[in-house]
Amino acid sequence: MTPPPGDRSLSRAAAVSFAARSRPPQVRPVTEADLDPLALLDQDVFAEHAYPFFVLRQFYDVYGDQLLVVDDGGELLGYVLMGTRLDRSRSWILGLAIDRRSRGRGFGRWLMAEALKRLRAHEVGEVWLTVEPANAAAIELYESLGFDKVEHHRDYFGPGDDRLVMVLRL
Ligand SMILES: CC(C)(COP(=O)(O)OP(=O)(O)OC[C@H]1O[C@@H](n2cnc3c(N)ncnc32)[C@H](O)[C@@H]1OP(=O)(O)O)[C@@H](O)C(=O)NCCC(=O)NCCS
Repeated sequence: MTPPPGDRSLSRAAAVSFAARSRPPQVRPVTEADLDPLALLDQDVFAEHAYPFFVLRQFYDVYGDQLLVVDDGGELLGYVLMGTRLDRSRSWILGLAIDRRSRGRGFGRWLMAEALKRLRAHEVGEVWLTVEPANAAAIELYESLGFDKVEHHRDYFGPGDDRLVMVLRL
């Protein structure tokens, strides 16, 4: 919010409010209040591949304990979403995104490490994900965590929308 010029009290209040909201980044489970900023972030990062709000809303309802966010007390910086089968044989990473301005600071690795820690603790057997074959940053991250490329799946999301399938055995 930009205060009107000359409004010093509002300006001070805004500064105090900002300071109160800022803290070191933290990875934590999602809350309902995160859904709006999460949808905006997802839209900005994935454009036509972003989840519609109602899908995110339902992921929250169904997989709320498998959706982690990283935030600094003021802004949502990223998220990771897991989806685990009832028999825990397999979990999918259904989404991983870091806000454009916050990339290259270790948040993607942090979210993935937290996700894998939780899946290991629940004795999940394998973690699967798909990634666009040209997405070098994500592929490097996944390979550094031990994921192997198992398949190049043509037209995975429709004609011309290929995906690399990667798997980590926990
Ligand atoms: C992929 C993404 C999640 C990485 O998050 P990030 O916070 O920028 O990554 P980190 O800073 O934690 O870096 C982790 C690793 O990712 C890889 N990486 C990150 N940025 C990279 C780049 N520009 N080029 C190559 N590798 C890169 C490196 O292996 C890096 O290892 P390091 O820890 O030794 O530096 C982020 O770039 C993003 O949100 N991209 C758009 C959405 C997306 O592609 N999601 C994955 C869909 S499957």
